[in-house]
Amino acid sequence: MEKIKITKSETSKSKPTTDQLEFGRVFTDHMFIMDYSTEKGWHDPRIIPYQPLTLDPASIIFHYGQTVFEGLKAYLTPDEKVKLFRPEKNMKRLNRSNDRLCIPAIDETLALEAITTLVGLDKDWVPSAEGTSLYIRPFVIATEPYLGVAPSQNYQFIIILSPVGAYYKEGINPVKIAVENKFVRAVSGGTGEAKTAGNYASSLKAQELVADKGYAQVLWLDGVEKKYVEEVGSMNVFFKIDGEVITPALNGSILEGVTRSSVIDLLKHWNYPVSERRISMEEVFEAAKNGKLEEAFGSGTAAVISPIGELSWHGKNIEVNGGRTGKVAKQLYTTLTGIQTGKQADPFNWTINI
Ligand code: COI
Repeated sequence: MEKIKITKSETSKSKPTTDQLEFGRVFTDHMFIMDYSTEKGWHDPRIIPYQPLTLDPASIIFHYGQTVFEGLKAYLTPDEKVKLFRPEKNMKRLNRSNDRLCIPAIDETLALEAITTLVGLDKDWVPSAEGTSLYIRPFVIATEPYLGVAPSQNYQFIIILSPVGAYYKEGINPVKIAVENKFVRAVSGGTGEAKTAGNYASSLKAQELVADKGYAQVLWLDGVEKKYVEEVGSMNVFFKIDGEVITPALNGSILEGVTRSSVIDLLKHWNYPVSERRISMEEVFEAAKNGKLEEAFGSGTAAVISPIGELSWHGKNIEVNGGRTGKVAKQLYTTLTGIQTGKQADPFNWTINI
């Protein structure tokens, strides 16, 4: 494995105060970068001062969107140690996304070492206040200057870091979600389960149309019948109906969230009946009508556990749990953030110390 070369920044930028922390606006002092060429493979892994990139305007990334990304977080423990949460799962997913986008695989051990070295160098940037963390954004871009539609011969793998607060302006309070009936996010066989920019670019229109009505995000239905629940803009989704916790089964168009799988493991550990299966909006609506929709919440790295207080579907408003955070969502939020920040025991060995 090639050694990571480190060039330290001569100055350090000023860090945001807790009340200035938004999601993804401020970046730390350093970044990681590694190049790929067909002759040399992935090579020259290095950490350098955070800086703009210089790219040829014909680079494939700008024209055909050949790119993937990941999202994970570093957390500060009460004794000032820094922890990562299941980073090996992100690295595996990065390579599954790479494969879907015809991007050459990255050595997962090297990628993880790049993250731990970079976070170690910028560890003073990991914020300590409740609900804050250092968001880690690894991504790959296709850099070959070429206008033909073909996989690039050159890439860069880059990692940047951003100290963050809550993803939603609502914080950990329930959000309002609009079920999307016109646009679709992904279809089976498409790129829905890959973490690639196009999925997010194509979500913007629907999101924009509901944002000024007070909805935090849209809930996507399946791309064929527009009947079955898939996921919310930046999170997977769970419903608690008559005691059973249900999340849509992975079907090729849903992103396999690390938080999603941790939630399923925790619920099983607590002996909740939990199912990964198809669930239609009709079923959710009927349950709400009969007083059986007990909770709804989203899960994601950025969003953590985000309770859903209201769903709008075909002009009908479905209030969930009186618009309040439910018991399961609260228990999951407390346990997950407790494990991530080292405030609670980690019975599954999900965290690693940097
Ligand atoms: C994450 O939760 O890390 C995500 O990737 C969501 C992001 C699009 C904000």
